[in-house]
Amino acid sequence: MIQETTNLDEVSPILKEYFHGYQISNDPFEKAAIYCDNNIIGIVSYSIIYERGEINYIITLPSHRNKGIGGKLLEYAINDMQKNNCTSVSLEVESTNTDAINLYLKHGFIKQGIRPNYYEGKEAYLMIKEIEVK
Ligand SMILES: CC(C)(COP(=O)(O)OP(=O)(O)OC[C@H]1O[C@@H](n2cnc3c(N)ncnc32)[C@H](O)[C@@H]1OP(=O)(O)O)[C@@H](O)C(=O)NCCC(=O)NCCS
Repeated sequence: MIQETTNLDEVSPILKEYFHGYQISNDPFEKAAIYCDNNIIGIVSYSIIYERGEINYIITLPSHRNKGIGGKLLEYAINDMQKNNCTSVSLEVESTNTDAINLYLKHGFIKQGIRPNYYEGKEAYLMIKEIEVK
């Protein structure tokens, strides 16, 4: 089951484990949703900045990967963006992160550019998906 969360304390241990550099902020544009099966097994964080959506991160716990959870979290975020009249969604992903790149390609994102030195000296791809206005 996917639900929105405002309790960032519950996601921070998972975040610390998988994204050491990522700081939880009080960014008013940022939202988070969790995939639960008694415990949290997946998280998506995204921002809705007027007509622009951004995926900040998606994590599925390793023991639950390749079961469609990452895809469902991504679709949840994109649906929320669509409801809020976003016309596109972008993200940056490390260029060696093939699992994540494949997930994004499968869900309609297109590589639009390269961001050198994006993650502590590592290169990222900028990926964008257009969102149909309802
Ligand atoms: C990237 C990540 C979120 C993907 O999560 P996931 O839950 O494994 O994603 P999905 O299960 O939806 O999709 C992954 C693959 O499983 C496949 N899959 C989906 N449902 C499936 C099912 N029922 N049975 C078998 N395979 C399935 C998908 O087709 C996809 O395959 P592909 O790699 O050939 O495209 C996960 O690998 C992760 O947490 N990585 C570490 C954190 C990270 O790097 N995040 C991204 C950058 S922010």
